[in-house]
Amino acid sequence: MAKTITVKDNASGKTWTFPVMSGTVGPDVVDIRKFYAETDMFTYDPGFTSTGSCESKITFIDGDKGVLLHRGYPIEELAENCNFEEVAYLLLNGELPNAVEKKKFQRDITYHTMLHEQLHSFFSGFRRDAHPMAVMCGVAGALSAFYHDSLDITNPEHRRISSYRLIAKMPTIAAWAYKYSLGQPFIYPRNDLGYAENFLYMMFATPCEDYEVNPILAKAMDRILILHADHEQNASTSTVRLAGSSGANPFACIAAGIASLWGPAHGGANEAVLNMLKQIGNKKNIPEFVKRAKDKNDNFRLMGFGHRVYKNYDPRARIMSRTCSEVLKELGIKNNPLLDIAIELEKIALEDEYFIEKKLYPNVDFYSGIIFEAMGIPVTMFTALFALARTTGWIAQWNEMNEDPQQKIGRPRQLYTGSPKRKFKPIKSRK
Ligand code: CMC
Repeated sequence: MAKTITVKDNASGKTWTFPVMSGTVGPDVVDIRKFYAETDMFTYDPGFTSTGSCESKITFIDGDKGVLLHRGYPIEELAENCNFEEVAYLLLNGELPNAVEKKKFQRDITYHTMLHEQLHSFFSGFRRDAHPMAVMCGVAGALSAFYHDSLDITNPEHRRISSYRLIAKMPTIAAWAYKYSLGQPFIYPRNDLGYAENFLYMMFATPCEDYEVNPILAKAMDRILILHADHEQNASTSTVRLAGSSGANPFACIAAGIASLWGPAHGGANEAVLNMLKQIGNKKNIPEFVKRAKDKNDNFRLMGFGHRVYKNYDPRARIMSRTCSEVLKELGIKNNPLLDIAIELEKIALEDEYFIEKKLYPNVDFYSGIIFEAMGIPVTMFTALFALARTTGWIAQWNEMNEDPQQKIGRPRQLYTGSPKRKFKPIKSRK
């Protein structure tokens, strides 16, 4: 028998029955599409804590168990056995590529790594001290002014080319945002390098001397990109979908996603974690900061802790912590005071009643900043790296939305608590 749920208005005694939908795994969802039409009421859910906004086949999270699957594959197995391009292919196409498909996909992506030459001048319009996220947001949006030939979102071939362009150009944009901040010449992509390797090359090479990317660091960067590739309907992905629901072009939608990711409660947390660890400065100061994080009257939070969905250890944080040790070892860093503080902070927080009761665990951002800093990546670039990795997830979700026959423009309603209709006051009679 089809599952249903019945809602009763206790005042009038009226009842309404709504269908319940089941996914392959995860909780059932109540189909409230006809709720307003039938009850003359809206549902109220600020922050969408109980609301499913779409149907998706891309990513599944079981926050209680700390499970993350992409197209059914556990993140641990993907991070261990795949490179970023394979995961990007999986997110976009639903299946892992075979050897021929992988080679073709890599070729198709590398074909689009260069930026239109006129974008050089576009970069120069920014102040030298512009935050890389401001540059990324602006340049990603500006791509729509440069690539008119792939903007018809009703055409699957246009959608495919735009998707490839975004995935391919984002490392170039991020690396150039960094180079611009240094006043160094932009380094053009090298298509003989892998995705992560090419990004590190464009970040750190200069035209004056040979630069070889350390393969262990390239592997670590590749894994970090995999860990950030998609995370179902988080704020930035929902922003991309909402922007796209009006029919906006993919470059504009990704710019919207970058803007949403920038905030410290979302992708900006990796930058905030490192700043926080520096502010703590010494292990002996940890208790004071933990006390502040628990104080309702203090708006300080332990950055890199807590998650809307995970009420258990974020599986990405576990892999990130291991990657952190590998990178520091490779770089010969025996003592990293920030890592020491992070490890001690994690230990103290995980044993603290407040964090246990609220199920606050380290998230993906807790260790990533330490790795980035050890690699020589400046703090302001941390969130830009997140954006570059997440572009793949955003574009996969954007494509899924465009192919979904249920797709409609996103248009939430509200609980209006402002003034009811009132009589206009001429300026003379206003106090
Ligand atoms: N430190 C101290 N207390 C916290 C923290 C924290 N990091 N996170 C949540 N809490 C408390 C919060 O004060 C609240 O307490 P109470 O119930 O007494 O009011 C309770 O835990 C629930 O928090 P919430 O803000 O209602 O939960 P949320 O689901 O709306 O927020 C979050 C999730 C990630 C925004 C939040 O945990 C947070 O601000 N964490 C720090 C920022 C951070 O690390 N963000 C990265 C998230 S992972 C990467 C990504 O996906 O972008």
